Amino acid sequence: MDIAAFKRDFDRALARVLDRKMEELEQLTRDPYILNLAKHGCTLALQGGKRIRPYIAYITYRAAGGKGNVMGVLVGLELFHTFALVHDDIMDRGMERHGVATANRLFGDAQAILIGDLLFNWASEIIAPTKGQPIFAKMVDEVILGQMLDVDAIRRARVSDQFIQDKMRLKTASYSFIRPMQFGAALAGKSAMYRFCEAFGCPLGLAFQIQDDLLDLTASSKKLGKSAFNDVKEGQKTVFTQYASRKPANRTLLNKMKGRKLTQEDRRRIKQMFEESGAIEYGTKLMKKYFREADDAVKGLSDVKAKPFAELVAYIKSRAN
Ligand code: IPE
Ligand code: IPE
Ligand code: MG
Ligand code: MG
Repeated sequence: MDIAAFKRDFDRALARVLDRKMEELEQLTRDPYILNLAKHGCTLALQGGKRIRPYIAYITYRAAGGKGNVMGVLVGLELFHTFALVHDDIMDRGMERHGVATANRLFGDAQAILIGDLLFNWASEIIAPTKGQPIFAKMVDEVILGQMLDVDAIRRARVSDQFIQDKMRLKTASYSFIRPMQFGAALAGKSAMYRFCEAFGCPLGLAFQIQDDLLDLTASSKKLGKSAFNDVKEGQKTVFTQYASRKPANRTLLNKMKGRKLTQEDRRRIKQMFEESGAIEYGTKLMKKYFREADDAVKGLSDVKAKPFAELVAYIKSRAN
């Protein structure tokens, strides 16, 4: 099953869970404003996500010999992801997510925190009784530490290359690839696959994050379904800002742009700076190196098993959002 076919089945399972949760909440209050808050959490989950985490867990589950219907359990991973995005948009002051207004923008930070908490609770409720729980617990710790590094990066004038590497490994490679894959393997009772999950998921995750940072600089908000240039606006540290910042004049420019409402002219200048400094070329090369490492990891698998993983790398390479 490719990711598009998976998404169709998966989204039906997700909608069923969310309908049931909304029915449960309607027993608790009839207040339409409050129910609408929860409903927005459901909309953010249902709308626009690529479903990479449940999909990669699914193909790993199958590769590990799992034969059952695990859609309902995989919904837990996506609900956790929606929680993580809702809280991330509070932290990053994101205004748009999955093509709709963020919870913080519509309802303010306090309600957005609570909408996120509901989603986290629903994820835990689904995952707690399964064999994936211990991996899930590790994944949650890792993404939270990754987000702590990410938030602190804004406060620091400069960070080390190691800092950026740790941040990418925790908040993206572990959270979005290694652990979801191991979650799938754990559901199938096959911990012997954990090493492959690491060897494939780590470079693919690093490539994915660099690509995300590149898209932030090169794609439009409309295409992304979330605010572009957010990293520069927030003073975020990426492989691109790191490379460009080796030159003091570029550091000065980035500092000047931080916290600013960026005009067209600002965006043009920033883009030009990243290109002329060689940062775009450097980051693109690094991304391609990680993609190659992911492709190499697949070569150790038999042809039948390799196919979905190789296709996933190809899908991610060509993504536009
Ligand atoms: C976004 O993840 C956050 C990162 C780790 C870069 P996705 O790109 O997978 O999010 P969706 O597909 O919009 O939900
Ligand atoms: C995404 O991080 C959130 C998680 C890792 C949970 P970012 O802040 O880097 O991603 P976007 O650009 O908002 O999707
Ligand atoms: Mg963030
Ligand atoms: Mg963000």
